[in-house]
Amino acid sequence: MQDKIRIAFFDTKPYDRLSFDAIKERYHVEIVYFETRLTPASAKLAEGFDAVCAFVNDDLCAETIHTLEALNVRLIAMRCAGFNNVDLAAACHRMKVVRVPKYSPYAVAEYTIGLLLCLNRHLHRAFCRIRENNFSINGFMGFDLHGKTFGIIGTGKIGLTFAQILGGFGVRILASDPFPNEKAAAELKMEYVPFETLYRESDVISLHCPLTPENHHMICSDTIGQMKTGVFILNTSRGKLIDTSDLIEALKSGKVGGAGLDVYEEEADYFFEDRSDRWINDDVLARLMTFPNVLITSHQAFFTREAVNNIAEITMDNIRDFQEGRELVNDVCFHCDGTRPCCHAKENTATSNPETSGSSASR
Ligand code: NAI
Repeated sequence: MQDKIRIAFFDTKPYDRLSFDAIKERYHVEIVYFETRLTPASAKLAEGFDAVCAFVNDDLCAETIHTLEALNVRLIAMRCAGFNNVDLAAACHRMKVVRVPKYSPYAVAEYTIGLLLCLNRHLHRAFCRIRENNFSINGFMGFDLHGKTFGIIGTGKIGLTFAQILGGFGVRILASDPFPNEKAAAELKMEYVPFETLYRESDVISLHCPLTPENHHMICSDTIGQMKTGVFILNTSRGKLIDTSDLIEALKSGKVGGAGLDVYEEEADYFFEDRSDRWINDDVLARLMTFPNVLITSHQAFFTREAVNNIAEITMDNIRDFQEGRELVNDVCFHCDGTRPCCHAKENTATSNPETSGSSASR
């Protein structure tokens, strides 16, 4: 019988271990969990392993990949959709990279709605007030979503699921995506418009596109300047899509009326960690946290039972396919630039719907 494939899991939390331990007996694998993130310094922990399994804030830069190659690691299995933290050029021809392109667009889309409802109606503040026996509702006035214009940036699996949910709120939906999905737009009564129009006309803007070199800081003083005064911005995609310093200036001036952020551009040192016994050294994050109209969460939009179970299953299937020399259906390669469906993908985002698609770069 073939040897077990040895996998070093990095940046693991108790919930990762639970979900993978629950299914690992079905696979011919040996797993070792490390709590540390995968970085150039920690990469040597992968000695003796065939594969590494990594997550969103692991640092798979060229140096890490060269160390992994020297240790004979042959596979990087991302237990997430995104691969913006993997230097694909460095990995090319050295090792395979696989990921989980779709595990639950509902988890993230539903969470985005939750962020907005909480932020707009001040539920997070009301919860705290009531616990202090303060039953005043001063300062908690929100706005009806009904009749408002929503701008969705990125209409892949999550963006379209978000649009589907919005259908129940009686809103107008605008969208921008370099690969418009006109069929879905017709079904969802969503209108594709140029970015300038989306910025100009939207009351709420929600980001659902991958981070690529081209859209780094796409939300900045210039684009915020084109938006309506009081616009709400939601980001459950990637922190670096927003220039946080520019967002802070816009919050201070009132140009931005609220921000719901599940991601932050320098999140790696803070998100997912209990740092309650330490102060915050990141002054930008600290300033952002002072705004009553900013709701920050710690990259948890994906975190549902269904999503976590799917991530474990698909990650293990990817590893088994590699082990058995089968076609890697969730392979990513150097030629995927994150802005268009992967050259290995079976379906095309531009013609797919949230039920069936599986395509380019993501979480
Ligand atoms: P997807 O690959 O299905 O769709 C992405 C869409 O964005 C595609 O239609 C693509 O054409 C479009 N796009 C690419 N570049 C764009 C640009 N510059 N402007 C506008 N649109 C652009 O990806 P999916 O699964 O819908 O994920 C979307 C985002 O959600 C990803 O960035 C991912 O990182 C994030 N995510 C966050 C999670 C969380 O827990 N907060 C969990 C899962 C994903």
